Amino acid sequence: MPASFSERIEEALSKVINTRTRSDVLSASQVRDIATSTEGRVRLTLLLAADDDATLARDVRQAIERVEGVTDVRVDVKDASEISRQAAPSSGAPAGAAPKRAPLPMMDQKPEAPRVAAPTPILYPNLGKVIAVSSGKGGVGKSTVTVNLAVALAQAGKRVGIMDADIYGPNIPRMMGVNAPPPVVDEKIQPLEAFGVKLISLGFLIERDQPAIWRGPIVMKIITQFLRDVDWGQLDYLLVDMPPGTGDAQLSLVQATQVSGAIIVTTPQEVAVGDALRGAKMFERVGVPVIGVVENMSYFESPETGKPIAIFGTGGGRRLADELGVALLGEVPLYPPVLEGGDTGQPIVVSDAKSSAARKLIEIAGKLAAF
Ligand SMILES: Nc1ncnc2c1ncn2[C@@H]1O[C@H](COP(=O)(O)OP(=O)(O)OP(=O)(O)O)[C@@H](O)[C@H]1O
Ligand SMILES: [Mg+2]
Repeated sequence: MPASFSERIEEALSKVINTRTRSDVLSASQVRDIATSTEGRVRLTLLLAADDDATLARDVRQAIERVEGVTDVRVDVKDASEISRQAAPSSGAPAGAAPKRAPLPMMDQKPEAPRVAAPTPILYPNLGKVIAVSSGKGGVGKSTVTVNLAVALAQAGKRVGIMDADIYGPNIPRMMGVNAPPPVVDEKIQPLEAFGVKLISLGFLIERDQPAIWRGPIVMKIITQFLRDVDWGQLDYLLVDMPPGTGDAQLSLVQATQVSGAIIVTTPQEVAVGDALRGAKMFERVGVPVIGVVENMSYFESPETGKPIAIFGTGGGRRLADELGVALLGEVPLYPPVLEGGDTGQPIVVSDAKSSAARKLIEIAGKLAAF
């Protein structure tokens, strides 16, 4: 008896094994909201845990693509911990006890619950390459790196924008020395501009010191709005400064638009590398390539001798880059004027362009432009 379309998909999914749980993604209830259309389109949500293998989403997509009759596959990835907090599965079959599955909702049936639909990533051709600057840990220098790379790219003649997606602690405005509400013209938010870089930040839209406790759908809404409703004009690069970790903003960004790549910022310490690795894997899992690693606060350059002094340990950036199989884009020294420049709105590539820190950042911008 030839299996139906939905049975064939179910069968394909039951062969995708999660190496962490050692069970297939279907039995492990990692697949939700499967919907298919009569034209062979398949769409589903895959719940991924932080330590799931980076390739699982790709495996699922490829398994379905191989099913006869499939014309198009979309896999939306969601953070399993978020989902299980919202709704724990009611029939908790003990692990290993051959769980009995409820039949899958299939074949043009609507997904059972009207949950927040994960939108299709939209390509905004005017934004150029969208590049996420991310890290596992806070305070490692994402915003500093974002600002200086953006200004260096602009100085090299590129059209550059910065989107400050760090809705929990936006500080791009301070670092760029601009802080005014952006004007709205013809329903388009006008980005502010500094050092030849267009920028938009939640910092412009919320009161200073007001806690931004927005979660999930609201984060998604803001990010979509920043991408769509800001009058960016034509850009070559949009650098997105992310909050630390692998939270809503990261997921929202990759769901909202096609992200060209991610830059991971880390410090040389071992602990920071573990966090950064988790952060980087999240991008890989959703098919966003990691462009490379920037190690920040790598060493302190002795003012007397000009010799590098490793104060935070060494080699973290290199280890992370090797682990991810990507390039170490550069090692930026700890240099106090970087901090001062951040506070006074003068990025180091402007205020002290000859310093080692600035030269490293300019070199990294060059590598990014070549990517
Ligand atoms: N290479 C450096 N030398 C000296 N100070 C630096 C350097 N890089 C960053 N800093 C300073 O360290 C602090 C943290 O940097 P930054 O705000 O860029 O980190 P972040 O990763 O964006 O932090 P958050 O997670 O809070 O968003 C800032 O005060 C910044 O000026
Ligand atoms: Mg920051």
